Amino acid sequence: MRIRTAVVVSTVSLLAAVGTLVVAGSASAASTLGASAAQSGRYFGTAVASGRLGDSAYTTLLDREFNQVTPENEMKIDATEPQRGQFSYGNADRIVQHAASHGIKVRGHTLAWHSQQPGWMQSLSGSTLRSAILNHVTQVATHFRGQVTWWDVVNEAYADGSSGARRDSNLQRTGNDWIEAAFRAADAADPNALLCYNDYNIDNWNDAKTQAVYRMVQDFKSRGVPIDCVGLQSHFTGGSNYPSNYRTTLSSFAALGVDVHITELDIRNAPTSAYSSVVNDCLAVSRCKVITVWGIRDSDSWRSGESPLLFDGSGNKKAAYNAVLTALNNGNPGGGDPTTPPPTGNPTTPPPSSGGCTASVTPGTVWGDRYNTSVTVSGASTWAVVVAITPPQKISTIWNGSASWDSSGNVMTMRSNGSGNTFGFTTMMNGNSGARPQIRSCTAG
Ligand code: G3I
Repeated sequence: MRIRTAVVVSTVSLLAAVGTLVVAGSASAASTLGASAAQSGRYFGTAVASGRLGDSAYTTLLDREFNQVTPENEMKIDATEPQRGQFSYGNADRIVQHAASHGIKVRGHTLAWHSQQPGWMQSLSGSTLRSAILNHVTQVATHFRGQVTWWDVVNEAYADGSSGARRDSNLQRTGNDWIEAAFRAADAADPNALLCYNDYNIDNWNDAKTQAVYRMVQDFKSRGVPIDCVGLQSHFTGGSNYPSNYRTTLSSFAALGVDVHITELDIRNAPTSAYSSVVNDCLAVSRCKVITVWGIRDSDSWRSGESPLLFDGSGNKKAAYNAVLTALNNGNPGGGDPTTPPPTGNPTTPPPSSGGCTASVTPGTVWGDRYNTSVTVSGASTWAVVVAITPPQKISTIWNGSASWDSSGNVMTMRSNGSGNTFGFTTMMNGNSGARPQIRSCTAG
């Protein structure tokens, strides 16, 4: 059975954070990325390469600045199961041990992926491939049980472009349910790990790929498939730019009841404005818990020619580093104190299918001061859906339903009124642009 645990910054991380508090200036200003993120219960991490752990300039920055790491290549399928049934964990274990001895949390990357498959797996198909990939998930998640906080269970399963379709791959051709099968296998192997779906080009809320992943997560949550988090790789390199609606994407995923992570951040030429915006957007969404840059120094980057990281090749802090640290120390610019209880996505919120019907949220138009939401009910023709909003947000208009309110004015019960199974409402942000409505329940009749 799955044991759901809230991840909080570990005692070790907190002690590390306290140890780097700066006395001058703001009482809450911290002098490293990890320590400043830890102030609001978040993680600031980096991809690491086992081959660089012998470079003391590299490990000095790693151990000083980051409270989370992602092995860049060492946990991929070709690295961990180079021959069928023969597992190889040496390089990954070295990273895990280094992290553990410095109080740094590990994100496992990645259990199931169409890329970086060893030759033996590339040549498999059908039920043979299905059992091979599920065995891989089980074996690797079991090996790292208790050592990996989050797993990228499935990586990059959706196609680019306007189709909103799954990416064609040997794994996809084993059946559309391969993703949920991988999540269930990971869940059985390590019930305490937080299980994430990870992808690139799901940063822009308007992109078909973003919408398709959103619908998959919504479907998984409604059917009880064990998923805890969504990773937005956020490679703003190679021609993909930071989108102005990034915060809407983060908050929309969070409103499904999953944590949101920025998992592979790098930005061409490391502009301070885009780096600050990414951090501010994350801080504005309480379920945005992790920001991971894809490498420490520009020379460590998979796109070193674009100088996309926070440290230059000599390990000096770049302007982008200072911008990120300042943003982290300034806290949530959306008005919320990042140490207050999360305003969105309470993980104890029951799934919206508990009362004989299912309510699915579709985010609508977002303006500067307000946004629309529509909710579609399935499984019943008459229903009551309970929706909670986060004050000071306020619902200002409703349509296609009859609303009543609790005494706080923050919880609306919408009942069917013969106008069909989709109702909608407009919410005034009132200074909180990050929160999104939560479906508390859907009751038939
Ligand atoms: O270590 C060998 C070296 O011995 C050999 O001489 C050389 C010859 O090509 O290859 C080296 O391995 C390379 C490895 O990076 C380490 O540098 C592989 O060829 C190369 O394919 C591999 O690229 C990695 C890529 O994923 C493919 O797996 C990048 O480092 C890594 O940054 C990148 O990370 C991915 C994420 O996993 C998923 N999201 C996108 C992201 C960027 O592509």
